[in-house]
Amino acid sequence: MSEHLALMVNGSQEEIEIDAERMLLHVLRDKLGLTGSKIGCAEGQCGVCTVLVDQQPVRSCITPVREVADQPIVTIEGLARNGQLHPLQQAFLDQDALQCGYCTPGMIMAAVGLLRQHPAPTTEQIVEYMQGNLCRCGTYPRIVRAIQQAAAELAHSGGQA
Ligand code: FES
Ligand code: FES
Repeated sequence: MSEHLALMVNGSQEEIEIDAERMLLHVLRDKLGLTGSKIGCAEGQCGVCTVLVDQQPVRSCITPVREVADQPIVTIEGLARNGQLHPLQQAFLDQDALQCGYCTPGMIMAAVGLLRQHPAPTTEQIVEYMQGNLCRCGTYPRIVRAIQQAAAELAHSGGQA
């Protein structure tokens, strides 16, 4: 049954009529046209659907939209600031940390969560935190380098992920 929900997505309030048991990923993609978050396993196992809810990475494929109403949601489309790519987005480009790119939005959103928790992560911390995000193209070494680059950039600029 449809009900009225207010979602705060990428800084904009969205009023929708929706079955509140639907998963956030499908609402983002099908209702709001935000297709940057990808569909993979749909079981919380691969990470391609990762978005931030109240600043924490969550698997949007297994998150009923009812649970996130009135909480700030950020998708890959909302990460750039003032027309500038987020340092993680820039670092993924600089380090060529993608091949097909399907995993990349989820990787970047998870990495935002990592750098908020560990602003200067060790390689081991990066590997451990990111292990739930899968890349079928095997670009893991470049992803680690991209995260290290972004951490260094944020430390240099005094910014926060
Ligand atoms: S599609 Fe959400 S974790 Fe795989
Ligand atoms: S770049 Fe292809 S799945 Fe990661």
